[in-house]
Amino acid sequence: MIKALRGMKDIEDPRFLKIFDTAREIAENYGYSYIETPVLEETALFKRSVGESSDIVNKEMYQFTDKGGNDVCLRPEGTAGVVRSFIEHKYDKAQTPKRFWYFGPMFRYERPQKGRLREFHQFGIESFGEPSIYEDINIIAMAADIFDALGIEYTLKINSLGCGECMPKYREKLVEFLNLHKEDLCEDCQRRITQNPIRTLDCKVDSCQAILKDAPKITDNLCENCQKDFETLKKGLENLGIKYEVDKNLVRGLDYYSKTTFEFVSTEIGAQSAIAGGGRYDRLVEYLGGKPTPGVGFAIGIERIMELVKTEKTRKGIYIGVMLEDALEFAQKEAKNLRKNEKVYFEPKVKSLKAHLKAADKGNYKKAMIVGEEELKNKTFFEKEL
Ligand code: HAM
Repeated sequence: MIKALRGMKDIEDPRFLKIFDTAREIAENYGYSYIETPVLEETALFKRSVGESSDIVNKEMYQFTDKGGNDVCLRPEGTAGVVRSFIEHKYDKAQTPKRFWYFGPMFRYERPQKGRLREFHQFGIESFGEPSIYEDINIIAMAADIFDALGIEYTLKINSLGCGECMPKYREKLVEFLNLHKEDLCEDCQRRITQNPIRTLDCKVDSCQAILKDAPKITDNLCENCQKDFETLKKGLENLGIKYEVDKNLVRGLDYYSKTTFEFVSTEIGAQSAIAGGGRYDRLVEYLGGKPTPGVGFAIGIERIMELVKTEKTRKGIYIGVMLEDALEFAQKEAKNLRKNEKVYFEPKVKSLKAHLKAADKGNYKKAMIVGEEELKNKTFFEKEL
């Protein structure tokens, strides 16, 4: 028997669409419009944006050479493709803000475990052209609105990674500290000192964590502007009643971020607790060959929140069934008419009244309309509210 690949799942859960509908409506209320980008992109796109030293690019890409000899991969995340599209359609030249939402499958060749899949779905948004920190507040508020609407409890963690002015100075300080402790760091962190020292901060190895708790922190080394924006971010979230924690080690697993980074985590879903992540990426458009344009966005992991979504038990729609073959045509036509205004299920099998009522109840319909001999004669239904 052929089975689905490891880490890939069939989805039949109605909560999947509920999340989609809820997130879409909220994003559109915030003024965002839909974008769909290809699942397959040139590998170079992710190498340049997500970063060559990141685990995603280094270890987790579904990468292959296609029949035309192109080095391609299944997208591991959505931001890079949307940025590519933004530049390709010359929105960077127009310099008018653009705001997109998207929903679709992402692929990472990770070790599957609870909450960690190889094919998973993200709902994401990307906002281009708005450098104001109030835009960061706005998108965090949007993610919070989505979780609130779905009845999901979360903890919001925020941090700032500084900008092109303060980050390099901080990085030097951090490298100095790391070199002092090089011998005691794990192999990965030793490599990170030269490749991407910031990523040592969220190393999961206990012995590294013990050393790194004394490392200099970026939020204590921000330039005046970044510091001011970080304060405004905190005040802005308080103003909207959104609770947060500052996590000075929140550097995120993708290299394109500067200034604001954030993650929503849930305590109810086990070790893979991040349910959404995002931040600002003011240099990414330029880095991918576009005109410098600030950007900020986030993505929610759909499978991670699926089991947290409360399902409604409310009954919906009408169940139509017949007790004799001759009634099928009449009932089917009535079903078509009623369907103009309502959800209507038409049962093509002839059954007893009892069997129909049982099926309607099980199907969670709010009403059953059944045609027996008498009803067919009078062109009516036997109706029962459930
Ligand atoms: P990310 O933090 O890599 O960010 O992914 C966002 C969310 O996708 C995570 O918080 C998690 O819920 C979900 N996720 C990630 N990997 C897996 C997996 N293997 N299995 C199940 N769920 C997973 C990004 O992808 C950025 N593009 C977000 C962004 C948009 N930043 C700016 N704009």
